[in-house]
Amino acid sequence: MKSILFVAAEGLPFIKSGGLADVIGSLPKALLKQGHDVKVVLPLYKKMAEKNHQDFEYVCSYSVTISYEEINVNIYQQDVNGVIFYFIENQTYFERDELYGYDDDGERFAYFQKAVLEMLSRLDYFPDVMHCHDWHTGMIATMCKENYRHDARYAAMKHVYTIHNLAYQGNFGKEMLHSCLGLNEDLFDCGAVRYDTGISFMKSGIVYADRISTVSPTYAQEILTTEYGEHLEHVLQMRYSELGGILNGIDIDEWNPAKDPEITKNFNKVSVFKGKVENKLALQKRFGLEEDKDVMLVGMVTRLTSQKGLQLVLDQMGHMLKANMQIVLLGSGDKGMEAAFDAINSKNAGKFGFYRGYNEALAHQIYASCDCFLMPSKFEPCGLSQMISLRYGTLPIVRETGGLKDSVLPYNEFTKEGTGFTFTNYDSHEMMDAINRALCVYYDNKVDFKKLIKQAMKFDVCWDKSAQDYSNMYEYL
Ligand code: ADP
Ligand code: GLC
Repeated sequence: MKSILFVAAEGLPFIKSGGLADVIGSLPKALLKQGHDVKVVLPLYKKMAEKNHQDFEYVCSYSVTISYEEINVNIYQQDVNGVIFYFIENQTYFERDELYGYDDDGERFAYFQKAVLEMLSRLDYFPDVMHCHDWHTGMIATMCKENYRHDARYAAMKHVYTIHNLAYQGNFGKEMLHSCLGLNEDLFDCGAVRYDTGISFMKSGIVYADRISTVSPTYAQEILTTEYGEHLEHVLQMRYSELGGILNGIDIDEWNPAKDPEITKNFNKVSVFKGKVENKLALQKRFGLEEDKDVMLVGMVTRLTSQKGLQLVLDQMGHMLKANMQIVLLGSGDKGMEAAFDAINSKNAGKFGFYRGYNEALAHQIYASCDCFLMPSKFEPCGLSQMISLRYGTLPIVRETGGLKDSVLPYNEFTKEGTGFTFTNYDSHEMMDAINRALCVYYDNKVDFKKLIKQAMKFDVCWDKSAQDYSNMYEYL
């Protein structure tokens, strides 16, 4: 049994902008089941304050120094089924409409990390392992090992750093090193935290952690290459022996078609075919599509960013609209992409439905109602949407990259193996070819399509095995 503190910028059930929050909400639960003591610490954003503040219990207050000023920290906590969540409150930094994307993000997350490290001594709580996630927490191991090295309680802790997305690195000006993080400028001169002319939170996490993990075995290999390494491949290569990939799981209670309160008709592995028809008709109605239980319905639920391969979809939209299929898309993000999909939506009512925004309930309905789920990502560290799709008997059409490659088995027409349809290169024709293969099986080989659905629903998407892998890593450390 180990005590572990998860440090992250978002986590369910409190706040989510993407898959990171799903993982922070579900992995601690799975580790708790294995006997570990797991706690989580998050910033307290405005959206959480509005929704949950009355449920939080006040713990203590103190201050940390940022830019030579004493800045106040209030700590709150809440127990979520045995996992204690701590929240770091500072209204100036976190009471804003969005989570990220501000000019002072570097300072905001420097403050967060400093407040977390100081919290340990205030609570006299020193976990065996600090498990940090993504760039927002990349400086924890660095500050712990440099600024607190003479304190045995800090020095005894081990550091795991999980990369959920190497593309977001937290690269900031060099001046922040001393003014916000309290670190010596030698660390810039010797290259340990340096990136170009500034500093990188992500790089520091990679350099200082005792163990680095990423969220799928394939992505762990890919990031060692120039194509996927986001200019950090050489740093990762240096730490190759401490780097590993563990595939994410999903919360199978939250994502359960047999009990999902958001969908029109619940179903399980036996009732999936009937259940899907009812959900499909309801979704078609909601999107104003032609109500037809027999047409192939393809869904997408995604952040609208270049990572997700939406350019391929835009390139092939003409062909997709001519094919015998309907498409629904739920997403928000890049303004240009939002406008492009809005335009397609307004000209193709009946065939294409676009909901611009973030909508949890609608996401559940799309996973439950569609025949296929399209995810042609340019890169994908893990991807949870394709795993949710598998659980809902919705066959993923994916590019073979990162976690998509590790979780979707391509259809083999001879052996009948498979859980979805895949393509190799980031090329819109290859994507269209995979869609056409799915269409052929859907219309001309219903027996195989149904077999694939059954196989998809049997794929193990729960956390148990991966939580065991994390457990082994903690024990090893
Ligand atoms: P990423 O974290 O890169 O966005 P993942 O596939 O790991 O990709 O996780 C995305 C998560 O966010 C999934 O749970 C997905 O259902 C959810 N999601 C993405 N976009 C939306 C949206 N517009 N509305 C509701 N849920 C969304
Ligand atoms: C990131 C990645 C996604 C992964 C998620 C959770 O957002 O883009 O692929 O599933 O983190 O690890």
